[in-house]
Amino acid sequence: MEIEKNIISIICETHTEMKEKIWILKNMLTTFDKNEVWDETSTILMFFNTTLVKHFKRGDILISMLYKIGKLSEFEKETIDGILQDHKTLLDKFDKLNEIIKKFTPYNHLIREKFIEIYTGIIDLLLLHADKEDKTLYPIARRELKKEHLNELEKKIKTA
Ligand SMILES: [Fe+2]
Repeated sequence: MEIEKNIISIICETHTEMKEKIWILKNMLTTFDKNEVWDETSTILMFFNTTLVKHFKRGDILISMLYKIGKLSEFEKETIDGILQDHKTLLDKFDKLNEIIKKFTPYNHLIREKFIEIYTGIIDLLLLHADKEDKTLYPIARRELKKEHLNELEKKIKTA
């Protein structure tokens, strides 16, 4: 029998790939004293601005569905609210990083330090956030969403 992959599994798979990438980005921090690394900033920003922004949108769609149909405990609601809030905080930090990078030259130490500060904040929050999603959001989604909800979710995500 063919194993049918549901939309939650698809979201989780991309989530795991992203987590691996975020660990790589965390390790890059130790190399930020080398000037060549700064050539990579546009690639990093592209990952934040496109891949992660898209992933947050999918997460928001999933969460709004869980609010609508899920039977959630108060604790679960609070955790999910926290996940939504993280998305907003992260988007705000991406904006700040995009602004900084416009003024960026490798030899401007103030800009460089500011970049590292925001970047570190993003990576730390992303790792905590991804952990929260793994431990709370996805298990709740798997528990609460029935076949028809998964189909609806898939449609909504594809047209988002
Ligand atoms: Fe998320």
